[in-house]
Amino acid sequence: MNKRITLLPGDGIGPEIIDQAVIILDQVAAKFGHTFKTEAKPAGGAAIDATGNPMPDSSVAACRESDAVLLGAVGGPKWDHLAGELRPEAGLLRIRKELGLFANLRPAVLYDALRNASPLRSDIAARGVDILIVRELTGGLYFGRRGRTKGASGREAFDTEMYNELEIRRIARVAFSLARERRRKVTSVDKANILDSSRLWREVVIETAADYPDVALEHMYVDNAAMQIVRDPSQFDVLLTTNMFGDILSDEASVVTGSIGMLPSAGMGETARGLYEPIHGSAPDLAGRDVANPIATILSVAMMLRHSFGLAEEARAVERAVSRVLGRIFRTADIMSPGMTLVGTRKMGGLISAEIILN
Ligand code: IPM
Ligand code: MG
Repeated sequence: MNKRITLLPGDGIGPEIIDQAVIILDQVAAKFGHTFKTEAKPAGGAAIDATGNPMPDSSVAACRESDAVLLGAVGGPKWDHLAGELRPEAGLLRIRKELGLFANLRPAVLYDALRNASPLRSDIAARGVDILIVRELTGGLYFGRRGRTKGASGREAFDTEMYNELEIRRIARVAFSLARERRRKVTSVDKANILDSSRLWREVVIETAADYPDVALEHMYVDNAAMQIVRDPSQFDVLLTTNMFGDILSDEASVVTGSIGMLPSAGMGETARGLYEPIHGSAPDLAGRDVANPIATILSVAMMLRHSFGLAEEARAVERAVSRVLGRIFRTADIMSPGMTLVGTRKMGGLISAEIILN
């Protein structure tokens, strides 16, 4: 198989973790006889410094022409003073929107080897965590009408949560379809006791569920969902929610699995071309020190192999390699626990890569 991948390393720890992901891609290519051609393009703060634009047209064009995109992370204090549409984060939103990536899959899995790194009480962790968060990615509060005005009490600002039924139906379909390959349960998270946009969300999710009679559907208010994720995460299979709620709940779910450094994600649209990225940020304080955990990005590569290239066996090989290395004594700082051996970014990438060749 011959595939083209655009890399958007971005800022902070982005370039370091992308380097490790590329080592993994090369290893998979060598072992299974594929060719993956990668090309790096500027994005985020790095792109602002180089071109004045957080997602230059040339980067967007390269992404469009490739089979998949792998992104590190964007943002940092250097660019925090910039106006909203000029910030690194605006570049990330632009590429998600331009590629039509309305579905964001964020699997939160607690590895047995990491139970000690999870902040969950041991009896709760023992029940296991295997949640697939399906986050709407190109609508809602992130993309609604917004602005700043002046009112009688001074400065005012607003953002609007807007969803239409097409947007809700298509993300709901993704959640129901994926639930069929799992434990056949969808929990739709909203705030329908307060918000009109949530009431429409719930209505359309219920209508869509009629096409999936074999999948159980429940509804949960977002405040309760935030609590249930720490009280008993084993109750969740697929968690379907909006852009804003999904952003918040995925950080919460990630730390339950031991560290935000463990969670990969896939942004998908109508075509096979996806954008894969760890859910964590650019962690400027860790940048350039060879301490960041590359696993979220490496697992994002596994998602790319599976969802964009249809290479399920190769994806499993990467995931198995990650489990095996964690099953031994190696840990990056974020998932370190007593008795384990602390390793850096490059060493962790190298260990996982070696495991792929061995098995
Ligand atoms: C994420 C991040 C992004 C988001 C930021 C960096 C724009 O927090 O992918 O979860 O809010 O979507
Ligand atoms: Mg986030």
